[in-house]
Amino acid sequence: MIIAVDGPTASGKGTIAKALAAHFGLPHLDTGLLYRAVGRQVQLEGGDPDDPQAALAACDFADSLLDEDILRAEEVGGFASRVSVHPDVRHALYQRQRAFALQEGGAVLDGRDIGTVIAPEAEVKLYVTASVAERARRRWLEMTGRGIDVALAEIEHDIAARDARDMGRADAPLKAAEDALVLDTTHLSRDAAIEAAIKAVLARAG
Ligand code: C5P
Repeated sequence: MIIAVDGPTASGKGTIAKALAAHFGLPHLDTGLLYRAVGRQVQLEGGDPDDPQAALAACDFADSLLDEDILRAEEVGGFASRVSVHPDVRHALYQRQRAFALQEGGAVLDGRDIGTVIAPEAEVKLYVTASVAERARRRWLEMTGRGIDVALAEIEHDIAARDARDMGRADAPLKAAEDALVLDTTHLSRDAAIEAAIKAVLARAG
C-alpha cells in the first residue's frame, strides 16, 4: 500500500505521515528533506537558489547531509522552497522518491506532489492542511520552545510566502490530488488528527 501525504508547511503532515508509517508498519520518506538538502548544499556553496544551474548542481549533495539538524532550520526551508521551483531539480529528485514509493510492501511519503506526481497510483492520498494563522502559531510555539526568539507576525509572513511559492510554481504546484481526502487540522489536536488519518486510511484501503 502506498500512502501519499501532501500539504503545506506546518500543517501536521509530517507528524501524521510518521504516525501512519508506525501504525501500518511501513517505511516513511519525508521528501521535504531532499529539497532541504539541495537548498542547504546551494547555501554551503554560496550559490543562488534562484539560479537553476546552481540548484541542479546541488542535487549531487552527500547523503550524510540528510542527517544534519540544520536542515530543519527556517532559513534552509526558505532555500528549499526556492530550489524546488526548478523543473531540473524536481526531475533529479524524482527517481529516488519513485523508487521509495514502489518498494515491495508499500511506503508512506510526505511532501507536496506525492499524490499528484510521484505516486499518482497511491491507494490512499491525504491532503493535510490548516489555516495560516494556526500553522504560524504552531511553528512559533515550536521555535520559542527551542529558545529561538522570533515574532509570530514574521513567521506568519514567511509561511504565507512559502505557500504562495509552493502553490504558484508551474511545475508540480502544491495542490490536493482530485482523489485526495482533505484533512483540515486547524481545530484538531495532534492525537485527534492522527486518529482521523488512520480512520481515513482504513476506510480507503478497505
Ligand atoms: O516539507 P518541507 O517544509 O520540509 O519542504 C521544504 C520545501 O521543499 C517546501 O517548501 C517545498 O517548496 C519543497 N518541497 C517540494 N516538494 C516536495 C517536498 C518539499 O517542492 N515533495
